[in-house]
Amino acid sequence: MIIETDGLTKMYGRKVGCSEICLTVGEGQIFGFLGPNGAGKSTLVKILVGLLFPTAGSARILGKPLGDRSVRRKTGFLPENFRYQEWLTGIELLSFHGSLYGMGREEKARRIPEVLEQVGLGDKGRQKVGSYSKGMQQRVGLACALLPDPDLIFLDEPTSALDPLGRREVREIMLDLRQKGKTIFLNSHLLSEVEMICDRVAIINKGSIVKEGAMGNLLAGAIEVDMRVEGITQKMVDGLSVLGSPVKVEGSLIRLCLRETVDIPVAAEVVVNSGGRLFSLNTRQNSLEDLFVDLVKEGGAGKCSP
Ligand SMILES: Nc1ncnc2c1ncn2[C@@H]1O[C@H](COP(=O)(O)OP(=O)(O)OP(=O)(O)O)[C@@H](O)[C@H]1O
Ligand SMILES: [Mg+2]
Repeated sequence: MIIETDGLTKMYGRKVGCSEICLTVGEGQIFGFLGPNGAGKSTLVKILVGLLFPTAGSARILGKPLGDRSVRRKTGFLPENFRYQEWLTGIELLSFHGSLYGMGREEKARRIPEVLEQVGLGDKGRQKVGSYSKGMQQRVGLACALLPDPDLIFLDEPTSALDPLGRREVREIMLDLRQKGKTIFLNSHLLSEVEMICDRVAIINKGSIVKEGAMGNLLAGAIEVDMRVEGITQKMVDGLSVLGSPVKVEGSLIRLCLRETVDIPVAAEVVVNSGGRLFSLNTRQNSLEDLFVDLVKEGGAGKCSP
């Protein structure tokens, strides 16, 4: 495991930052960490990169306990509130970060043009950071995070300042990093983005993890099915109840939630074999957004969640 946390808790005075966080992130994964504003995402990332001390609990990063200096050399971090020295050029900023990472002159000379190119600032390295747009500043921050060719990269809302094209480019950078065997811990509000690229996700609300799992498993079991049927009988409803629940009947409309797509034709068979005439069948796979809203909204009652 690249990250293993055990009961990590951070209190800001009497205020909970995050509470009893237990999670594991495997090598080569893109791990999505989701939650509403103030849920504790940045708090956890700051603990994991060594910017905050936990109030309780422990963690191992790349097999070493929190605070191990050798781990920092192999870790990249893009903070959410990035603000870089405006008077430096992009190259000078990266050189400064390279020195903080303990990189030598030659390594910096090789890596700086590479990462500038990687984040789409290949021809902007000699410009002052103060003259960069917000999106360009976020890109140079990403370049700082990638500079030491880290094994583990923490990205806190890495596309918050980017236009749709820039978001896509950063997504491609993340996928490319995964292909190279790197592990990415991604804090994000952009649920569609997370759904597209993450292997596993955890959802945090009010400091505590409320759901964690492989993306496929989280979204499985949440297929909403609407069937327009003539001749609905109790036997039909009972048969459908075995496949999924709750089964709701509204006039000639039957609504239910199925766990797997293979159950869709079975549901149609149950209707027809019970003597019903099936006029239409519509399905809708719940998105990560549906699951997220369901889990974090006040008093949220699961409508079609696994
Ligand atoms: N330095 C601090 N001092 C006191 N409270 C803090 C501090 N930093 C964060 N908090 C509180 O801790 C909780 C978690 O904040 P955190 O920044 O981790 O949330 P987040 O999930 O990253 O939110 P966002 O999506 O807005 O970035 C919030 O209630 C916040 O007010
Ligand atoms: Mg945050």
